[in-house]
Amino acid sequence: MSTTSSSLQISLLLSLFIFTSLVTLSAGNFYQDFDITWGDNRAKILDGGQLLTLSLDEASGSGFQSKNEYLFGRIDMQIKLVAGNSAGTVTAYYLSSQGPTHDEIDFEFLGNLSGDPYIVHTNVFSQGKGNREQQFHLWFDPTKAFHTYSIVWNTQRIMFLVDNIPIRVFNNLESIGVPFPKSQPMRIYSSLWNADDWATRGGLVKTDWTKAPFTASYRNFKASTVSTSTNSLQASELQDQALGATGRNRIRWVQKKYMVYNYCTDFKRFPEGLPSECKRSRFL
Ligand SMILES: *[C@@H]1O[C@H](CO)[C@@H](O)[C@H](O)[C@H]1NC(C)=O
Repeated sequence: MSTTSSSLQISLLLSLFIFTSLVTLSAGNFYQDFDITWGDNRAKILDGGQLLTLSLDEASGSGFQSKNEYLFGRIDMQIKLVAGNSAGTVTAYYLSSQGPTHDEIDFEFLGNLSGDPYIVHTNVFSQGKGNREQQFHLWFDPTKAFHTYSIVWNTQRIMFLVDNIPIRVFNNLESIGVPFPKSQPMRIYSSLWNADDWATRGGLVKTDWTKAPFTASYRNFKASTVSTSTNSLQASELQDQALGATGRNRIRWVQKKYMVYNYCTDFKRFPEGLPSECKRSRFL
């Protein structure tokens, strides 16, 4: 009895140890994975590569991009958004390929007056065409702590997740003629910039420059792709990742309580009829 339980303890400890070292191994380093692309010293990599901050002042914003390109995978980033009066500021975080027929998967965080909710704006471009916006409020204050924003992208679907809760799914509906991003590798981009002509309450609320500089922070970047998978199970999980029953319940909850705009219900915008993907699947 006691031998069994102590060997159980040892194997538990051992698996905990293995688990922890796997997590540490795969945690990204901003020096290694990203280049600062604009904004001079407004973008900073700190803490030996564990933290990255972007800032915006009246003269300029700032941004970074990944060194690697990705074709499918799961990309996680923890972000803490601009605190206080962030009205007029936009923190964009997205995947994009290059060129006129580029593909893009977007998160954009639209700031607001202190105490008023951010909007999480999402969009999917395939072959140069977007116009697939969905917007959400969040169920927490995204400026108080880091939260994880993830993009899962495989051949069947694109999923947007916040703290592992799915908020949006864009399914591959090539079968009914909707282009799906699947052949152009994408880089990760992020930038903090001034968009007070449209961002907050449609541009009514302007950036208060007396509050500058505005700062957003990033940490714990992780990219899991088939090539970083340590075994075929992990690889096939990535390739097949879909909403399970829990995911479906959660996305229903988010879309019911927190969705503030959905192109798929904007009949005024599409007088000739909604885009075909809207008629086809529930979670878009
Ligand atoms: C800002 O706050 C207003 C009022 O609560 C809200 O309607 C709006 O969605 C919020 N977000 C943005 C980015 O305008």
